Amino acid sequence: MSALHFYEREGLITSRRNSGNQRRFGRDTIRRVSIIKVAQQLGIPLKEIIDVFAELPAFGAPQQHQWEAMASRWQVQLQARIAQLQQLEKSLTRCIGCGCLSMKQCPLYNQNDKLSEKGPGPVLLQSGS
Ligand code: FES
Repeated sequence: MSALHFYEREGLITSRRNSGNQRRFGRDTIRRVSIIKVAQQLGIPLKEIIDVFAELPAFGAPQQHQWEAMASRWQVQLQARIAQLQQLEKSLTRCIGCGCLSMKQCPLYNQNDKLSEKGPGPVLLQSGS
């Protein structure tokens, strides 16, 4: 399946059929595909791109103010991801040369295991909740 077919199936772009039943894309499709490609380079998930595009009119190129709104929204997400990655990098620094993968000491191994505070094993099954 071509990328254009995929984007069309996902509702990101639209086409018209000519008399020979061939798909024809308007000039606005170039702008939409460009935005999709930029978003993908930024690591924006397809679901997010679909959500943002759903707010645009079905036909016509996104206007400058619409692109600015998308860019602002994605900049916030990108900054959050950068902060998260920097935190992970800091944690990873501690692991270099260690290799313990200790459930108690390693900041990366089994991180965010909130249930471990309630005890070992299948805590939810044991408590019946
Ligand atoms: S591997 Fe030892 S602290 Fe992460």
